[in-house]
This record gives sequence, structure tokens and C-alpha cells, in this order.
Amino acid sequence: MPSDLTDEHGLPLWPAPERNKQPIADALKVVLPPRGLLLEIASATGQHALHFAAELPGWTMQPSDCDPEHLDTLRRRVALAKQPRVLAPLVLDVTAEPPACEPTAIFCANMLHIAPWRACAGLFDVAARLLPPAGPLVTYGPYAVHGEHTAESNARFDASLRERNPEWGVRDVDAVRELALARGFALEATHVMPANNLLLVWRRPPSGELRSS
Ligand SMILES: C[S@@+](CC[C@H](N)C(=O)[O-])C[C@H]1O[C@@H](n2cnc3c(N)ncnc32)[C@H](O)[C@@H]1O
Repeated sequence: MPSDLTDEHGLPLWPAPERNKQPIADALKVVLPPRGLLLEIASATGQHALHFAAELPGWTMQPSDCDPEHLDTLRRRVALAKQPRVLAPLVLDVTAEPPACEPTAIFCANMLHIAPWRACAGLFDVAARLLPPAGPLVTYGPYAVHGEHTAESNARFDASLRERNPEWGVRDVDAVRELALARGFALEATHVMPANNLLLVWRRPPSGELRSS
């Protein structure tokens, strides 16, 4: 994903978030209530956080990441932007104790396939810890559906990920759903996004309404 593209301050600009930030913002406008605090997990360059702050005027963004290099970029980009609705980045590793934060909603793009499977459990654990009972967790990225890739390019991407790291790989929505269910979250909505990606909305239904199918 990284490229040589930089902004006017020399900070990296990744092509993928440049391409997908507007379609994701448009979907978030439908999915999220008018205002709140959006915790972004795995913010990396901060391109999404800054764009969503501009597109969602009722929302304050709380970016975060766990990678020191990304955190450095993120901190510098957020400081330079001087956007009062983008807070100073948090250090947040989904496989560790989360920092103090009280988000209305959580957004996480393109992390599940590029982290070990335990990070998926970690993401739902963090969501269960930090979100209010009806708060949504929104995930975005490439997914397989019922054991099948949704495009040949996703199958090739999956193979290349697994070659780089056998613990990585495009996740199947069914497997994520199983794991989410064990943590009280149901898949509430699936938005088909450009370039064979999905935006998934996870939420804890009122107790007693959770079923496995
Ligand atoms: C492919 S990048 C996606 C960045 C950005 N969300 C986007 O869509 O452009 C994957 C991100 O996942 C983060 N990540 C990997 N493992 C993580 C973990 N255990 N906890 C939190 N973030 C993690 C990496 O630091 C990196 O920022």
C-alpha cells in the first residue's frame, strides 16, 4: 500500500485511502448518527481521519494506531492540520489493553487481513469494552463471502498476503461473524463498496436477540 506519494509537508499519502475515503465517508453518513466521537483503529497515515472530519461536521475523530512509524506520521499530520475535531492520536493495539476513550462509534479499515486472526478477536474485544451498548463498529476492506472471494483480484491479493505472512489473509465474513457473535455483536448491515470491498456494520442487539444465523 505505501507509495512515494507525499503531501506538501513530505508526509506519506497512500493511494488506497485517497481513492476510497469519499465512498467510505458517504457510507458513514448513512450508517452513523448525526454527531459523536468516532474512534478510528489502525489509522496509519491519518488520511481517513482528516477526510471524515471534513465530511462529517457533527463528528470528532479520535485516530489511533500501534505501529511507531505510522504513529509518527499520524501525529505530525494531525498536528499540522490544526483541525479541532481531530484529536491527538492514541496508541491502540487491539491485542492489548485499550487506552481510555469513550467513543460513540468505532471505524477500522483494512486491518483484519493484514494482522493475525487474534487481532480480529481483539478488535471486537476492544469494541465491547469501549462502545456504549448500541454503539456501532464499522469495518471496511476486502472480505470473502461464504468461503468464496468476491473477485479474482481479491483471491490474488489473499495469496500475496499469505505469502508475505502465513498469519495474514483476506477474512471470510462468516468467520468474522462467528467470532463477533461470541462477543455479542451481530452483523447489522453490509454495504458493497467500490473495488470489491465491503463496509460492515456490527452492533450489539438488545440482549436475547442474538442468533447465530
Ligand atoms: C493496511 S494498513 C490500513 C491503514 C488504514 N486504515 C487504511 O485503510 O489506509 C493496516 C493498519 O493496521 C494496523 N494494525 C496492525 N495490527 C494492529 C493491531 N494489533 N492493533 C491496531 N492496529 C493494527 C497497522 O499499524 C496499519 O496501520
